[in-house]
Amino acid sequence: MAKYSTFSLACVLLYLNDVATAASINSYNGLGLTPQMGWDNWNAFACEVNEELLLGTSEKIVQLGLRDLGYKYVILDDCWSSGRAANGSLVADSKKFPNGMKHVADELHGKDLLFGMYSSAGEYTCGGYPGSLDHEDADATSFASWDVDYLKYDNCFNRGQFGTPETSFKRYKAMSDALNKTGRPIFYSLCNWGQDLTSYWGSAISNSWRISGDITASFDRPDSRCPCDEDDYDCKLPGFHCSIMNILGKAAPMGQNAGPGGWNDLDCLEVGVGSLTDDEEVAHFSMWSIVKSPLVIGADVNKLDSTSYSVYANPAVIAINQDPAGVPATRIWRKQVPQVDGNGKGEIQLWSGPLDNGDQVVALLNGASIPMTMTAKVDDIFIDSDEVSVSSWIAYDLWANRLANSTASSIVQGGSLDYSKYYNATELPYASGLAKNDSRLLGQPVANVSIKSPLSAYVPAHGVALYRLKKA
Ligand SMILES: *[C@@H]1O[C@H](CO)[C@@H](O)[C@H](O)[C@H]1NC(C)=O
Ligand SMILES: *[C@@H]1O[C@H](CO)[C@@H](O)[C@H](O)[C@H]1NC(C)=O
Ligand SMILES: *[C@@H]1O[C@H](CO)[C@@H](O)[C@H](O)[C@H]1NC(C)=O
Ligand SMILES: *[C@@H]1O[C@H](CO)[C@@H](O)[C@H](O)[C@H]1NC(C)=O
Ligand SMILES: *[C@@H]1O[C@H](CO)[C@@H](O)[C@H](O)[C@H]1NC(C)=O
Ligand SMILES: *[C@@H]1O[C@H](CO)[C@@H](O)[C@H](O)[C@H]1NC(C)=O
Repeated sequence: MAKYSTFSLACVLLYLNDVATAASINSYNGLGLTPQMGWDNWNAFACEVNEELLLGTSEKIVQLGLRDLGYKYVILDDCWSSGRAANGSLVADSKKFPNGMKHVADELHGKDLLFGMYSSAGEYTCGGYPGSLDHEDADATSFASWDVDYLKYDNCFNRGQFGTPETSFKRYKAMSDALNKTGRPIFYSLCNWGQDLTSYWGSAISNSWRISGDITASFDRPDSRCPCDEDDYDCKLPGFHCSIMNILGKAAPMGQNAGPGGWNDLDCLEVGVGSLTDDEEVAHFSMWSIVKSPLVIGADVNKLDSTSYSVYANPAVIAINQDPAGVPATRIWRKQVPQVDGNGKGEIQLWSGPLDNGDQVVALLNGASIPMTMTAKVDDIFIDSDEVSVSSWIAYDLWANRLANSTASSIVQGGSLDYSKYYNATELPYASGLAKNDSRLLGQPVANVSIKSPLSAYVPAHGVALYRLKKA
């Protein structure tokens, strides 16, 4: 109570009340009540797309148990078309997709997966194929007739129609309206790189929106091709080759605009792509989860190694991402720490966020290149709450029950899953599992936390310690 005047407390209560009722009505089309999960071919395959790649990958997604952990959207990225027919409709490249797009959708639906499609709000796509600007109705009609479930909508060759929120909004709304007119529920994912303050208008017309230039598989390497630094959330030159820490910094102030129905998209996951260390992959996946970014696998799932697989397959962390309240965690503090190898900024950060059932997620993020003992005080973790002095919590380590390397290794080599131990979100959605305190979603209790005993952990370099706090 001490933190608020009577007046502002009333405002806070009104606001919380709004959030509680908004959860069921906030989606502009009823989709995306939790962040989307799936696979997109771009990070691993770029333009090398065809039917075999999508269907082979979907097979593997099922076999690895990833579908039943929630990764449902199989998203085809750029370079799939061969132009427009005389009547103006987009045509799928018949060499790459000999049976057409509807066939791909049917096959995916037969496996209880969903089909994601790609286009650009421009004259051309980024790969130089026909874009959908001024063809919104025709293209949305094609997508719906192919039974597409999702559209990733890029920003290349936009003929200069950007620079103010109005110009970008208008361009992206045209496709939103066109999709709506088809009558088919299609998840709409904006890929306009965060230009023109997308996070302030995205939820009115879409289910998710990118907040930065394209990600690359680097933890924190500065790259001139991603010219806006991590604090520039109103970035005019989003670029590409953005590092994980760069994108996370841009996400830090944006949580307030995301929630059930519309999400800040920090771009596809680089776990299993490039040469991130295991600690970096754990940190990347943890942070994307807690800020409620979409979780879209960027790796070649046929070549996932056991450690990357066990990152993607951790239901305790996915359950944070899929928490029904959908509140992105907030960065509470950041501190520069002494540089060791001069590579990137050495910085440690505390992130914290409320969960649906009264639990709290806490991340101690070590962005420095040496291990650190990090400590989070309870009144920092619960900075927006007034219960701190009276309560105590049990901290559950969300990575403690990660699949053993030997188990993960046998699964990626084609061995069968032990279905009795594996979490199956198709059978038991995360909301139901959480309501039952399913132990597979809780990790391992490791510490008692209160005003007298702060949360403390030895955190590896470029790593994270991630906890769910439950009231004792
Ligand atoms: C346009 O032509 C293509 C190729 O001939 C055909 O597949 C498609 O159904 C046509 N679209 C419309 C809307 O008539
Ligand atoms: C179209 O939009 C209306 C609200 O504007 C919404 O109720 C409806 O579900 C949408 N339909 C589709 C297919 O997206
Ligand atoms: C996990 O197992 C794989 C395959 O057996 C091995 O190559 C790798 O070094 C192991 N990783 C760890 C972290 O133990
Ligand atoms: C998960 O549950 C669904 C529905 O019961 C079932 O069809 C599927 O085979 C299960 N998946 C695994 C990996 O056990
Ligand atoms: C789950 O745990 C919470 C405490 O975090 C408790 O209040 C609730 O009763 C438990 N639910 C079940 C079904 O055990
Ligand atoms: C929390 O404290 C209780 C009582 O002192 C103790 O029994 C329990 O083991 C502690 N739990 C953890 C996870 O440290």
